[in-house]
Amino acid sequence: MAGRVEGKVALITGGGSGIGQATALLFGREGAKVLVADYNAEGGERTVKTIKEAGGTAIFHAADVSNPQDVDGLMHKVVETYGRLDCAFNNAGIEGQMGNTPECSLENWNRVIAINLTGVFLCMKYEIPLMLKHGGGSIVNTASAAGLVGLAGGSAYVAAKHGVAGLTKTAALEFAQKGIRVNAVCPGFIRTPMVERVLDKGTFSEEQIFAAEPMHRMGKPEEIAEAVLWLCSDASSFVTGLPMPVDGGYVAQ
Ligand code: NAI
Repeated sequence: MAGRVEGKVALITGGGSGIGQATALLFGREGAKVLVADYNAEGGERTVKTIKEAGGTAIFHAADVSNPQDVDGLMHKVVETYGRLDCAFNNAGIEGQMGNTPECSLENWNRVIAINLTGVFLCMKYEIPLMLKHGGGSIVNTASAAGLVGLAGGSAYVAAKHGVAGLTKTAALEFAQKGIRVNAVCPGFIRTPMVERVLDKGTFSEEQIFAAEPMHRMGKPEEIAEAVLWLCSDASSFVTGLPMPVDGGYVAQ
């Protein structure tokens, strides 16, 4: 049976760890030709190796999504390798430093905005013209439940993720008649190396996270990957401009 994204060319940023890695592996299994991008070459290469060992097609390309030259280079790499771009998962992100708004340093603010918001903007800026050349495509950005509601102590992160949700809706409107759909996933707490770092720092305890999540558990990266795959696939052909919570009910509270 053909995979759910059989033959599609997919670019996945932050594919070296957590949600991006789980999504790259799923896309590989479902027949996509994957370009894994990350600024961590070790993680990215590991993802590619795993996809290939399972019989899939993937390459790694190092890029910092906050750097326009790197993002432009990514597009050249995808065209040189696969000739086109059908799906893009703009997912690379960082947690930054936690602390109330007056304690958020300008350095932390600038870094979180540069990667989590400008990085998504730059990716879309270069992906959309490429997709238009070949009749369209599907873009999924990673926002967050913190892109839909506030989170005390996370001003830069929350501002960046709300920005991603707004950017997603705007680009969706701009290209709705040109064959490009633009959506976002808004994960709740997902057990990834990012959340493990937050737990290690003692910002939140596991008990606090379980209490905050209606299902009293964290999500798995694979549960986000399934939503991304659906949004990228033709199964969601009438869905665009949606910041979609995949959060066990977190924002329904
Ligand atoms: P992670 O830390 O496990 O993976 C993030 C990946 O992005 C890493 O491989 C890292 O090297 C890469 N990356 C970071 N900055 C980069 C840059 N400037 N250029 C290229 N690559 C870069 O984190 P996780 O949890 O998988 O997060 C993925 C996305 O999901 C992020 O945007 C995060 O904000 C978002 N998210 C995560 C949640 C969670 O609970 N884990 C909840 C809501 C959103």
